[in-house]
Amino acid sequence: DTYDFGLVGLGVMGRNFILNVADNGFSAFGNDLDEEKVDALIKEGGNTDKVNASSDVKTFVQSLTTPRKIMLLVPAGKIVDSVIEGLLPHLDKGDIIIDGGNSFYTDTDRREAYLKEKGINFFGAGVSGGAEGARKGPSIMPGGSKEAYQHVKPIFEAVSAKYKGEPCVAYLGPKSAGNYVKMVHNGIEYGLMQLTSEIYDILKKAGGLTNGELHKTFSNWNEGRLQSFLVEITSEIFEQKDDLTDGYLVDMILDKAKQKGTGKWTSQNAMDLGIPVPTIDIAVSMREISALKDERIKADELYDRPSPKAVDKNDFTSKTEQALYFAFIITYAQGMHQLADASKEYGYELKLGEIAKIWRAGCIIRAAMLADITEAYQTDENLQNLLLSPSFVEKVKSTVNAARELVSYGAANGIPLPGLSNALTYFDAYTSSRLPLNLIQAQRDYFGSHTYERLDREGIFHTEWEK
Ligand code: 6PG
Repeated sequence: DTYDFGLVGLGVMGRNFILNVADNGFSAFGNDLDEEKVDALIKEGGNTDKVNASSDVKTFVQSLTTPRKIMLLVPAGKIVDSVIEGLLPHLDKGDIIIDGGNSFYTDTDRREAYLKEKGINFFGAGVSGGAEGARKGPSIMPGGSKEAYQHVKPIFEAVSAKYKGEPCVAYLGPKSAGNYVKMVHNGIEYGLMQLTSEIYDILKKAGGLTNGELHKTFSNWNEGRLQSFLVEITSEIFEQKDDLTDGYLVDMILDKAKQKGTGKWTSQNAMDLGIPVPTIDIAVSMREISALKDERIKADELYDRPSPKAVDKNDFTSKTEQALYFAFIITYAQGMHQLADASKEYGYELKLGEIAKIWRAGCIIRAAMLADITEAYQTDENLQNLLLSPSFVEKVKSTVNAARELVSYGAANGIPLPGLSNALTYFDAYTSSRLPLNLIQAQRDYFGSHTYERLDREGIFHTEWEK
């Protein structure tokens, strides 16, 4: 019982996470049913005093110092429950189980309550950054018991990514706060990815940019205010040659996007909360539309589409940069808004500034912009929406017109820009002090006596409409 940290699930993420823990001076013990994975880890660890593993659950649990800190990196769903059941007979009160997967937040609440009865602390801790993040420093989003977190904190702070020396991990709140925050992180991820793909589309179809030019354009952007992991990898994707043909790989990849559910959950839950996140919603819908490839091919034959009007390449490229920056802001604004509301609804006590802070490095949505978002929420903890932050007004004002131009270009020339146009529409609606929904209230009262309120006096009104 000498190992500091335990980890169940020795897939790529788990193995990398353990090696990262060991690199940071903590000893770690792994567990997986698969003997091959156990052996591979022991071999890779190089020194069994620092990294060891076993396929036997009892040996695994007994190898850990108490209170035991056991992280699960297994697929979300029933597997998490069965791993917990397997561990339980061997655990002692006060031990800590950390679920590092993309578990649905209500599952985490259920598990936390169930384990609390048995004296076990349960953490839902989103881990972002993919395989490389797990190895070199992910962003970690833990939620659960604040006292129990103190035991995990030194290890998490050591292994997490660092932004200017500050660890990209923080205790986020009770219960499923960590999983919830990771879910919204992924919703934002969906939005940013959708927007990036639209900008690629319009640069290619209207601007006529080659893959080489797209590579250069995205690399340049990555040196500026759009600096972000997603823009960076996008620039690299355009350079990748295909092994099987003599073209570029990106051109050979089937245009059907898969999804594992976190983006959809974000949208579904936003609907339940009554918080609009249309850029995330449309990102989910676009993955669904992309899956309808056969139907799309049939429909394409039935309808004409205008051929894109020529544009000035340089001017157009600069507009796309502005529009993408604008729409990135809107996407973060929607996600943060959802977090603010969920925090009230579910009692998460989230600090939005802390969340933006731990997203500045390590995670998939890391971006230079997150430093500004962090500041905005640190200046005003109760900021209702990023668009209301004085520090964002200028950034938005100076880029929104480029979004308008591109959206009208897309509409006139038959290039779908659903993320960008939704971001713009959200902006135009959110910044309108008067919307036409007075008419909807009138209609509701007309056909169903649903009543309405008035601008000029208090109370609930109903009218016998003249029919
Ligand atoms: C991360 C990612 C990760 C997620 C993938 C795939 O933060 O490291 O969000 O957790 O699983 O991005 O998600 P989809 O398969 O739904 O696209």
